[in-house]
Amino acid sequence: MLLVGFVNNEYIHVSIMKGKYFCGNHLTIVDCHILPQLRSFQRGHIDYIPTTCLDQFPDIISYINNMLSLPIIRKWYGLGEPEKMFTTTELAMYRGLNGGPVYLGAKGLVFDVTGSSFYAPGSNYHIFTGYDASRALAKMSLDRNDLENPVIADLNESELQTLDDWIEKFKSKYAVVGRLASSAHK
Ligand code: HEM
Repeated sequence: MLLVGFVNNEYIHVSIMKGKYFCGNHLTIVDCHILPQLRSFQRGHIDYIPTTCLDQFPDIISYINNMLSLPIIRKWYGLGEPEKMFTTTELAMYRGLNGGPVYLGAKGLVFDVTGSSFYAPGSNYHIFTGYDASRALAKMSLDRNDLENPVIADLNESELQTLDDWIEKFKSKYAVVGRLASSAHK
């Protein structure tokens, strides 16, 4: 990846990155220098630079995320535990069977709905648990096909609004325990 950045705000540094970190696959002092520079682009305190300015560079975002997944870096920034990413298979394990936790995915987030009578095994909405329920929620559908194939690209504006309303409701009621790994909303 080609990484371009300001060093000491004085000159532009260009480097070809060949590994996970700036100088290969091991963390070096260069990474400790570059990371704050990159983060400063995203923090909205540089005049005229939108906080989304790096979003169109997936390699740079992935570099920042790699760095921010390191315990020592998280500790430095006071970031706590890294967010858990749920694959489809992993999420499917959280359906409350044998008294385990009950999770529901929607719009990139995973909500802990354990203890809610709506979703316990045998309840009306248990069908949503362990799935990315985005499409079903948006379409007010209880059809399993909408859960098996949760694309939302073809939804109309009113369906997308319905989905957003569900998300607002869920955020106000349930804890977010992670994100969906295979989601268009990452
Ligand atoms: C005849 C049709 C339906 C009726 C009468 C009905 C009624 C209700 C009622 C009374 C609640 C409890 C609301 C609360 O106390 O906050 C509820 C919750 C819920 N309904 Fe329905 N519903 C219907 C159809 C659907 C459909 C088609 C969906 C598909 C998306 C759906 C999804 C949900 C969900 C996800 C909850 C739980 C919300 C939460 O976690 O707070 N419902 N429904």
